[in-house]
Amino acid sequence: MSRPHVLVARAVFPETLARLREHFEVDANPDDTVYTPAQLIERLQGKAGAFTTGSERIDAAVLAACPQLRVVANMAVGYNNFDVPACTAAGVLCTNTPDVLTETTADFGFALMMATARRMAESEHFLRRGEWRKWSFDMFTGSDVHGATLGILGMGRIGQAIARRGALGFGMRVIYHNRSRLAPEQEAPIGARYVDKATLLREADHLVLVLPYSAQSHHAIGAAELSLMKPTATLTNVARGGIVDDAALAQALRERRIAAAGLDVFEGEPAVHPALLNCPNAVLTPHIASSTSPTRRAMVQLAVDNLLAWAEGRPGPTPI
Ligand code: 8YV
Repeated sequence: MSRPHVLVARAVFPETLARLREHFEVDANPDDTVYTPAQLIERLQGKAGAFTTGSERIDAAVLAACPQLRVVANMAVGYNNFDVPACTAAGVLCTNTPDVLTETTADFGFALMMATARRMAESEHFLRRGEWRKWSFDMFTGSDVHGATLGILGMGRIGQAIARRGALGFGMRVIYHNRSRLAPEQEAPIGARYVDKATLLREADHLVLVLPYSAQSHHAIGAAELSLMKPTATLTNVARGGIVDDAALAQALRERRIAAAGLDVFEGEPAVHPALLNCPNAVLTPHIASSTSPTRRAMVQLAVDNLLAWAEGRPGPTPI
């Protein structure tokens, strides 16, 4: 019986490929080349399935050029790289990797928020440059995290996990805005208060973005929104590039209209807006919020489980 052909679009753990090869004809990418759309189409020829990451876009053009494609398994909880309605219309099953990365990503979001509030990157660069000659009373004074108001935009699984850390670990007051309000039994244990977006922006001492990217959330934080924030506030983005207008943010940081920003995601990444690179009050990391060894393994495993379920004609664990 002929086995389905799948493309593993980026480099993965060797044992992942071994597991896939037990069930599929596998075309791997050991050099970890980031395919252009044309290269992706070429590599997908004759493939029924694909293991993808956020860097591979599966849209109407790819679907039209790859009519044999049946399943795309994203190693990510976010799936803005998939045109899901177009996939559905073409009969292509989309899957993602929720849950397994929630706590790891929340750890990182909280850490990035703390590093931003307490100026860890800026002070570390100062030390490494050899500029630390004496202690002084107002050296790198930051803002407190404990007892402050934590604002969460996008209160899904990761947003709630960050809110728990803030409320239960650091005595923070939690306010949030989301498409839909949480159930009272979800709000109560963390004392979370649902507010409108403007109130969230005005009242948060530390605003954390954890909402999915879509046409509706494009530039959800731009110049107008930043102007509502406190001059002492910090902004942390562990969601997606494009939710923040990076040029507007760089300007606000330069003019100290907000105190600082922690960014793990960028518009057009891996390119980073040059103005952000010149902001000492920005902590910048290369999209690593889910990057711990166990979590990356769990994400890969779940993507593979989805492909295997499809191959065996069973419902997969996490269809989109
Ligand atoms: C991934 C992510 O590392 O899960 C997501 O949505 O952003 C990250 O965990 C990245 O998308 C690679 O696929």
